[in-house]
Amino acid sequence: MSGNLVKLAVIGCGDIVMGQHLPTLLENPSVQVIAVCDKDPVRAETAGAAFGSSYHTTDHKRILDDTEVQAVLVCTPPWATPSITIEALHAGKDVLCEKPMATSLDAAEQMAEAERLSGRLLQVGFTYRHGPLMDGLRGWIESDRLGHPLQIRLSTFDEVWDPEGNQEHYERILNTLRHGPPCIHDGAHAADHLAFLTSSSPVRITARGLTSRPEFPSPNYNSALIEFANGDQAKLEIGWFFPGFPLGEFQILGPKGMAYLDRAKGEAVLISDRLTERIQLSENRVSSCFRAQLQKFLTSITFRQTPVPGSREGISSLRLTLAFAQAMETGESVRLSEESEQ
Ligand SMILES: NC(=O)c1ccc[n+]([C@@H]2O[C@H](COP(=O)([O-])OP(=O)(O)OC[C@H]3O[C@@H](n4cnc5c(N)ncnc54)[C@H](O)[C@@H]3O)[C@@H](O)[C@H]2O)c1
Repeated sequence: MSGNLVKLAVIGCGDIVMGQHLPTLLENPSVQVIAVCDKDPVRAETAGAAFGSSYHTTDHKRILDDTEVQAVLVCTPPWATPSITIEALHAGKDVLCEKPMATSLDAAEQMAEAERLSGRLLQVGFTYRHGPLMDGLRGWIESDRLGHPLQIRLSTFDEVWDPEGNQEHYERILNTLRHGPPCIHDGAHAADHLAFLTSSSPVRITARGLTSRPEFPSPNYNSALIEFANGDQAKLEIGWFFPGFPLGEFQILGPKGMAYLDRAKGEAVLISDRLTERIQLSENRVSSCFRAQLQKFLTSITFRQTPVPGSREGISSLRLTLAFAQAMETGESVRLSEESEQ
């Protein structure tokens, strides 16, 4: 590191890198992307040109052997992320890896072990927990403006089904479904939101899945009811691969009031004691969350602080989403122990 400039490399240069991480990294004066890697040579070259990096490669080992690279963004699919992250940590790099950190608890725990043994930092890309909107919602809950118990209603619909219009996207999402239903992938954010908002641990989950077309390798619509140790409940819905879909919900109901996040408008609203309070973003919500996430990573690197959300939060989220998938598959409720959160 020269001064406070962090020299960074990106491994996996697909949609989320080119759409969100790229502009966020380019505008931040505290970071310089010196190398990029993608196993697809065209993507590696395109990303190298877009970032203006010193070199691009299809071999992530070249990046891990580069002593100038101090930190790495691992933005590969979650079945590739664990081994690359573990190698990167052992190569002495601090890592921000995309969510979900893995698709099995075993792999996630090996990543946490590599973090501990290497003494490097591992942040997990739960992007949308960062920023004033989620802080506002949590603050209203903590100051008891809603009362208890809470009913949290969260739904996310994404990945439009358009096999002819965008064949590359169709094949990619179909392949992602082979590695688990959407509750494991997009559900990772929802599970992290619940952990962020409640101060309690999930104790039981009941779930159902629906496969809206027979060719889908796992249910593309996932819904669950989650009970928490403190009596709070949550209803989650994650849906992929419909030709069109509604805007998702993000509402929190309590005996004293309600709060909601309007993700499209970028505002959090509290209605309690006959008063309405609002927190409004003056910029695009997604860009603002990516910017805050990067800043958190850079600050953790500079001050050698354990990042939050890190491996602990990544494992908690995965534990809940794997229980979600299991409850869907068996049709039986799954119990989670409170201790398992520690
Ligand atoms: N934080 C967020 O808001 C957010 C949003 C979207 C996606 N994601 C996550 O980001 C990750 C990537 O998603 P995406 O939509 O960009 O997927 P993508 O398929 O478009 O990109 C992944 C890239 O990784 C590359 N890759 C795979 N294995 C590799 C390897 N061994 N070495 C080098 N490159 C390799 C692929 O060639 C591809 O270009 C996923 O885990 C996804 O869940 C996070």
